[in-house]
Amino acid sequence: AAEEQKEEQQLTHELLASLPKERGWRTTKLYLFQNFWCQPKEIEAIMSFQKHFKAQDGDIIVATIPKSGTTWLKALAFAISTRKRFNVKENHPLLTSNPHDLVPFFEYNLYTDNNIPDLSHLPSPRLFGTHVPLGSLPDSIRESNCRIVYVCRNPFDTFVSIWHYLVKIRPENFEPFSLEEAFDMYCRGVVGYGPYWDHMLGYYKQSLETPHKVLFLRYEDMKKDITFDLKKLAQFLGSPFSLEEERGGVVEEIANLCSFQNLKDLEVNKEGKAISDFENKHLFRKGEVGDWDMVKGHMVFGLSYALSHHKAAL
Ligand code: A3P
Repeated sequence: AAEEQKEEQQLTHELLASLPKERGWRTTKLYLFQNFWCQPKEIEAIMSFQKHFKAQDGDIIVATIPKSGTTWLKALAFAISTRKRFNVKENHPLLTSNPHDLVPFFEYNLYTDNNIPDLSHLPSPRLFGTHVPLGSLPDSIRESNCRIVYVCRNPFDTFVSIWHYLVKIRPENFEPFSLEEAFDMYCRGVVGYGPYWDHMLGYYKQSLETPHKVLFLRYEDMKKDITFDLKKLAQFLGSPFSLEEERGGVVEEIANLCSFQNLKDLEVNKEGKAISDFENKHLFRKGEVGDWDMVKGHMVFGLSYALSHHKAAL
């Protein structure tokens, strides 16, 4: 095993040397791997995930580009799909665990550091999260009858959210860079798992082609009417709310349990660390639509730039 590990490290080393690279947001470099940008540690984990993960028909995969509502969608998908096991009203796991602990990321929690996890013991349905673009998911995800739920958020708000997040989690000795530089990188697609447009369009097109396989949700719609999207999500996941549940207020209870304010105020989300070494509290900032107002001026130019580069794809 040690020999194999050494060989893999060598391969990663050679691979990195062959990839286009740019300055990173919180690490020295980002690499263009399989047409999306990510860090060496992520590449290693993603390659292991691609090689070893075997999807099962009942699996639920929460897919997003960072900062588009991953934490929220993980909480909702978990609460819906386990509601026969965990009563929403009492001792619910979401009250004592962060959503990222309950719905682990392939590339941050499961396949990191050359770990090949045994996932066979997990209760069904198994829930996982990923930021990996659709085209780079392992074949077994595409070939099995597992389901993918995706949330898309206005790219302006996603940018503002990632900017704030990375300022908080970036190592102290990391050379700071300006909002303008960051926005320029974002528009050129140079951001973790970007370009944004490719990521979103990959899942969007698949949701049109195979609507039973990929559910495409919008953060802004969820903020407007979470009850509607919760019902859609439950239906898609194969466990629609019964009339009895609807009358009994279960939909609202799940919405409240997973609401921004409720999750933000929980002790576990003020203190814990669920992803790498990053504090959970940074996952809950404002949770609003339209926070990009603060940088609107810079963005009008950036958007036209980005659109001109992606017209073909649109
Ligand atoms: P802001 O930085 O704009 O506040 P992700 O979960 O993909 O990392 O995205 C984080 C963003 O989602 C942050 O946006 C965060 O505040 C918001 N968020 C986290 N939990 C939420 C919830 N339960 N409802 C709505 N938004 C939420």
